[in-house]
Amino acid sequence: MDARARRRALVQAGIAITSELSLDAVLQTLIRIAADLTGARYSALGVIDASGRELDRFVTYGIDDATRATIGDLPRGRGILGVLITDARPLRLDDLTTDPRAVGFPDHHPPMRSFLGVPVMTRGVAFGNLYLAEKQPAGPFSEEDQEIVTLLAAQAAVAIENAGSVQRDALRRAVEAQEAERKRLARELHDETGQALTSILLGLAAVERAETAADARAAAGELRELVVETLQNVRRLAVELRPSALDDFGLEPALRRLGQTVKESSALDVQVETRLGSGRLLPEIETAVYRIVQEALTNVVKHAAAERVSIVVARLPEKLTVIIEDDGSGFDPGAGPGDGLGLLGMRERVELLDGSLAIEAHQGAGTTLAVELPLPRGKPGPRG
Ligand SMILES: Nc1ncnc2c1ncn2[C@@H]1O[C@H](COP(=O)(O)OP(=O)(O)OP(=O)(O)O)[C@@H](O)[C@H]1O
Ligand SMILES: [Mg+2]
Repeated sequence: MDARARRRALVQAGIAITSELSLDAVLQTLIRIAADLTGARYSALGVIDASGRELDRFVTYGIDDATRATIGDLPRGRGILGVLITDARPLRLDDLTTDPRAVGFPDHHPPMRSFLGVPVMTRGVAFGNLYLAEKQPAGPFSEEDQEIVTLLAAQAAVAIENAGSVQRDALRRAVEAQEAERKRLARELHDETGQALTSILLGLAAVERAETAADARAAAGELRELVVETLQNVRRLAVELRPSALDDFGLEPALRRLGQTVKESSALDVQVETRLGSGRLLPEIETAVYRIVQEALTNVVKHAAAERVSIVVARLPEKLTVIIEDDGSGFDPGAGPGDGLGLLGMRERVELLDGSLAIEAHQGAGTTLAVELPLPRGKPGPRG
């Protein structure tokens, strides 16, 4: 390929890689193009795990499924592959089998001699490594090959970051859909109220029909219970489903109302303290905080057997902090996820807003949830 053809191929490669939306497709396209442009028979990409020391994913190109199956376990990043993990710089070898750092191939592994590896960095952190092997026709990879692959790796890094934000968008849409569903339910609740009122009407008819004062009193007594019950249900459900107070007045009154509702319907002493200053927060932040406090309070009522719970929401110049602390039974947050969705949903909400959630709980010594949500600088814009 002459220089112009290569340049053109590189531009096309960049477009192909960055137009993929899912992470898998980005990685597959990257290794295929890298092999094509350098004449490598095999290529692969290893994704580095959270520890930063091992590979936890390995996608390959050039090896058919049957061969791949007979090789067995995928490499975890020892030997030459490990060199690139500990030292994130391009590595070019004429014969990787004779390198002293090599650990040898497993049985059934196709022979590979010439080798070129480059790190893929996203936001200054090693995301993984791109490996090429067996240049065709047989020979070492050139300096130019290395430059090309380095460039591809940089383009792939952008696509990898994009794929991450596409996933975040999907999550955002899911949460918005949930909110819409809740709105719909709130309307249904209205209709339920209609039903309850109908029962009350029927009850009133019974009072009218009563022949004696004693009968009337008895019917009225039943009716009274029905009204009290309905009223409580409607209030509780309405608050749970759609925090209209949030829309109308903002976070602070909505949280107070939530605290009040929990206090009335349980024996809990609920303290709500807010330091929010003036000016509304972004709607998605208000909703997230409201839902998080709501779930945390529900958990305290359901699981903690606590006497007291305090909620402190404070706005700092750059972040919003929410601390929910109870003096209940506590639990083991390291015990792994059970069937509950509450804490999971909380985490998702927090992640969606680039925030953090810490749970401090000890068996028998209460639970503290601490949430931090970054606030955009300056005036809140119309959207995130
Ligand atoms: N404040 C708390 N005090 C004691 N235990 C808690 C508290 N919060 C959570 N837990 C424990 O953590 C578990 C997980 O909570 P999570 O909210 O995720 O699920 P859940 O409340 O059981 O179900 P869901 O929220 O889906 O209705 C609970 O089952 C409970 O054992
Ligand atoms: Mg829960």
